[in-house]
Amino acid sequence: MHTSEIPALTDTELKLLQTLVYQECGMYFDDRRTSFVQDRVQRRLKDCHLDSFYSYYRLLISQQGKQELSRLLENLTVNETSFFRHKAQMEFFQRNVMDDILKRKEERREFTLRIWSAGCSTGQEPYTLAILICDALAYYYLRNPLPFEMPTPKPLIPPPWKVEIVASDISYSALLTAQQGIYTEAQMETVDYTCRLRYFDKVGDKYSVKPALKSLVQFDFHNLKTEYLPQRNDAIFCRNVMIYFDEAEQKRLIDKFHRCLNPEGYLFVGHAESLFGLTKRFHMIHQNNATVYQRIEGPQ
Ligand SMILES: C[S@@+](CC[C@H](N)C(=O)[O-])C[C@H]1O[C@@H](n2cnc3c(N)ncnc32)[C@H](O)[C@@H]1O
Repeated sequence: MHTSEIPALTDTELKLLQTLVYQECGMYFDDRRTSFVQDRVQRRLKDCHLDSFYSYYRLLISQQGKQELSRLLENLTVNETSFFRHKAQMEFFQRNVMDDILKRKEERREFTLRIWSAGCSTGQEPYTLAILICDALAYYYLRNPLPFEMPTPKPLIPPPWKVEIVASDISYSALLTAQQGIYTEAQMETVDYTCRLRYFDKVGDKYSVKPALKSLVQFDFHNLKTEYLPQRNDAIFCRNVMIYFDEAEQKRLIDKFHRCLNPEGYLFVGHAESLFGLTKRFHMIHQNNATVYQRIEGPQ
């Protein structure tokens, strides 16, 4: 069956689907994305050998249809990402935010750093964070030498520090690609050559993330719509994800992020996103073309 033989969804059918997707993952499709949704649903119907939306919808809401529902959600998500995306913000994280977190933690003699990339897509964001953290730690100890000799060869993460980067997404196929950590020349465009040399191995005409860097990132499935989310984070990156949610869902998510952060923890959102008018529980820091939000403590 060709997709053109499958009838287009009526307005009522589109509404039904919109509600189901919203309930499942918080994504909201407005009229501007109707033709994208039409196209993706028709492709799914074709793959399932179904010729009516009604039978497809019945499958989606049935117990046996759970797998197809995940597949549909994967097809409706936008996975666009890149290494060092929004460079100014990443530099601000490395220079200012990391410095603040390391100082505060060192004072408390607490040496575990936990960062969450929420909506990590194919992995470029969490691997960028891993690179920035390794370099920030190395630079920190260049300025504040440790009172003991560093073991040789120098580990990526100087002891006693422990770094945990949790990277999550709702798309299993994106997570699989992220876990493999192999990228094409085109995907590596924004990675400079020193960084390539230090953190990647060349495999054929592709680049593979070195195992030591990879071991800092733990990939996991998490639907941001649910309540069970990674806790005790020093910083959360949720960039270019909330843009697909409506205001009510964005507010709920920001409240969850507040709960998932350590005191004075930081929240990074995408360049085109903002917490303006959505919460009073974070204050905004804007510097050098970068914006970041910090958790406010005490009564708000
Ligand atoms: C445009 S990508 C952003 C990737 C990366 N954060 C960046 O800024 O480059 C958005 C990602 O959010 C994921 N996503 C969308 N809805 C989600 C949800 N409810 N729970 C978890 N991930 C979700 C998508 O699967 C997609 O990989």
